[in-house]
Amino acid sequence: MVKFGGSSVSSRTKCQVIIDVVNNHLKQGHKVLVVHSAAQGLTNLLADRCQHNTPAFAAFSEILQALAQDLEVPMSVANEPLDTLKALDLLAQLDVYQQASLMALGELATHRVLMAFLAKHGQPQSLDPKEWLVSSSEDKRHAEARVLSAKCAITPHADIDRQLSHSYYVMPGFLASDTTGRTVLLGRGGSDTSAAYMAVLLKAKQLEIWTDVHGIFSANPHNIPSARLLLNMGYQEAREIAASGGKVLHPRCILPVEQHDIPLLIKNTNHPKAMGTVLAAAYAPKKPRVSAINSRHQVTLVSMESINMWHQAGFMGDIFSIYKNLGLSIDLVSTAQTNVTISLDNVDNVINQDILNQLTKALKPLCEVEIFRNCSAVTLVGYRIRALADKIAPVLSTFADQRVYITTQSSNDLNQTFVVDEDQADKLTRALHEVLIIEDKEIDDFGPTWAQLIQDKPEKPETSQSWWQIHRQQLLELANDHSPAYVYHLPTIGHQIKQLQRLTAINRFYYASKANSHPEILNYIYQQGVSLETVSPGEIERVKQSCPDIKQQDILFTPNFAPISEYQDALQSELHVTIDNPSMLFDYPEVFKNKQVILRLDPGHGSGHHRYVRTAGTQSKFGIPASDIESVANWCQQHQINVKGLHAHAGSGILDHANWPRIAEYLGNCLSQFPDCEIINVGGGLGIRENPGDAGLDLQAMDESLKAFKRQHPGIQLWMEPGRYLVAHCGVLLARVTQTKWKGHQGYIGIDTGMNSLLRPALYGAWHNIVNLSNLGEPTEFTANVVGPMCETGDVLGIDRKMPATAVGDVILIANTGAYGAVMSSNYNLRSPAAEHILKM
Ligand code: LLP
Repeated sequence: MVKFGGSSVSSRTKCQVIIDVVNNHLKQGHKVLVVHSAAQGLTNLLADRCQHNTPAFAAFSEILQALAQDLEVPMSVANEPLDTLKALDLLAQLDVYQQASLMALGELATHRVLMAFLAKHGQPQSLDPKEWLVSSSEDKRHAEARVLSAKCAITPHADIDRQLSHSYYVMPGFLASDTTGRTVLLGRGGSDTSAAYMAVLLKAKQLEIWTDVHGIFSANPHNIPSARLLLNMGYQEAREIAASGGKVLHPRCILPVEQHDIPLLIKNTNHPKAMGTVLAAAYAPKKPRVSAINSRHQVTLVSMESINMWHQAGFMGDIFSIYKNLGLSIDLVSTAQTNVTISLDNVDNVINQDILNQLTKALKPLCEVEIFRNCSAVTLVGYRIRALADKIAPVLSTFADQRVYITTQSSNDLNQTFVVDEDQADKLTRALHEVLIIEDKEIDDFGPTWAQLIQDKPEKPETSQSWWQIHRQQLLELANDHSPAYVYHLPTIGHQIKQLQRLTAINRFYYASKANSHPEILNYIYQQGVSLETVSPGEIERVKQSCPDIKQQDILFTPNFAPISEYQDALQSELHVTIDNPSMLFDYPEVFKNKQVILRLDPGHGSGHHRYVRTAGTQSKFGIPASDIESVANWCQQHQINVKGLHAHAGSGILDHANWPRIAEYLGNCLSQFPDCEIINVGGGLGIRENPGDAGLDLQAMDESLKAFKRQHPGIQLWMEPGRYLVAHCGVLLARVTQTKWKGHQGYIGIDTGMNSLLRPALYGAWHNIVNLSNLGEPTEFTANVVGPMCETGDVLGIDRKMPATAVGDVILIANTGAYGAVMSSNYNLRSPAAEHILKM
């Protein structure tokens, strides 16, 4: 049994992996069933259609068309699901069964295209999930849960070999049938669950889940690059990890294979030969261990205090029934003699101020209520965790001045959770990970770290060299005299600009100058035909000084929570001005009267490489929420405020090409309320390839979808405001080794600058490639943390890096630091940050 997720069926290269995996199994004499998800981006569009009534057809067919083209199969194979989508798109209201039928179309359409491709390379048979997976008629939950998150009672099929006599089948995941033959869905993680059900039904030897990560890690590798791959684990432990915030597997898909003792393997489609994680029942570690530390954010705590609860029969019953009546599901509970504190998870509950007010009002007669929002639950998962108390206690004591609101231990001794303020969670996770996982060298179930895995050579070696490899000698000489130094290579910026200028759907680019505002860079970028975006009077001034001939119309001003005087000045200078708070318009109509403005809307969902850089959704301070659009539109009309453009920016470091078409679609749907609008600005946020082997952003696919959008909205200009994409690759940070050190098993390389020059690793756990430029290409000798000279434990630029023999005076290069490097530097510890140098050729 093999299952391929959405990203694994989204391009020819990935689909080729399916063929290789299948052939490998067939060669070994196994029968194979492939279960697959919908191609990336399709399900999000369908979910938006259900939740926000956003028509899905155009963008959906664009994505599918791009896939069909890539796989060289005719798009007509998917006519039937596309016709169904077109028809459902027209309905004003969808009942729950129609929603299920709509949501299933992502898998069904992908199935048609994928089958046509696979049939060119083998003899797959299509399997209809509705014939094999039937939801349980015993399910007593409400209709929505029964239809959109159905459960099937699956038993192994006695006569399966006769019924499925071919050796190779392919089936779309996520959907099933109810007993009357209507389509139902298997809920979140649905395709994994389909695969697990089918594995049971077919009595499979094993279930392989192919996805875009290597397996289960000891922590979220994006926050902790030294997180280690878990090679072996038990099902129960994996379920605990999934429930505590680990995103690789959904707990629902583990249960069926666990009950029937079918081993489950997780494998990475991008690195098919790399090791993964194996889940099996027989697995039991020899000694107590923590295997993973995860955190869940946006947790709300309710503390209930009353002396009446002491020895008071029914008190708990009374308070819990209040939660039940409000439909709130409780996650953690902690009790003391006069206090009960519970946590509400944002995943299972819709938590807003209104519901919290209702809760407070209902609880008030029984107890004193205090609510803490924005907490995080940090959970340790492992075996016999209580036995590790002596290691955990010292870590917690270093957080003594921070509040740990709740500590809970599961009765099965498999997990322990601490609830803390959200901004403490990452730090606590790192500290616990350091002590319980990194320092414990005796545990043999841990594989390589994430940092090591992604540094391993890509399967297809890159042929082209980075600019800094070509200019190595020049950089070494420069570092000898000027370390630490940022060096920027202008032709690399030119190359990046050309990549974007190939996007024919975009009319105008505004470079987000906050990414790097070096005068020569601003001037160079402007000379290449790119306009400039600014967020402060300082940036406007810098842009004007660097580009003395710049036209006012080539400057865009996008401030946030700025004083009204900044808007006045910018309008006076006739810059393009973006407003992202209705109260500015309501409070100062006379400032904006008869002026042209752009409104920044909040598209509701943010994305990006770290939660600090996601700039949409209720937790983010940016943009006008959907609920205010109508009143803002009316207000602007009444006060002659001319809304000539709509803007949205979802976040930074995004690698999903569907993000920008999605934003365009959202803004496009608002156009009817703003009759004068002629510009749609889809923001920046384009992610870069950190490593030569990374997949990178599919610009072509983005362009195709945006072109389709423009066909639907003739007369609308599209703007984009990239920052990182243009400048990240052009910059390197050079620093010289000041000291090296061993502490136990941990090696350190100290260099002459740190978080004062490059804050990103400390702030976001960002990963930058680090090499010893003096000994470039020499064999790896040891693994070390590369650290700066600041008096902060967080002053780490890279964790567990494979380095060649390294000596004091060697030049270390930190790559891809042209964006958000120097601009975020500081004089902390009164150490000057790296100065900036330009290479013109
Ligand atoms: N437009 C707006 C409205 C923005 O707020 C930003 C970035 C951009 C465009 C450009 O985004 P880019 O294409 O560069 O991703 N310091 C963080 C990034 C913060 C981005 C802030 N806004 C980092 O180092 O990753």
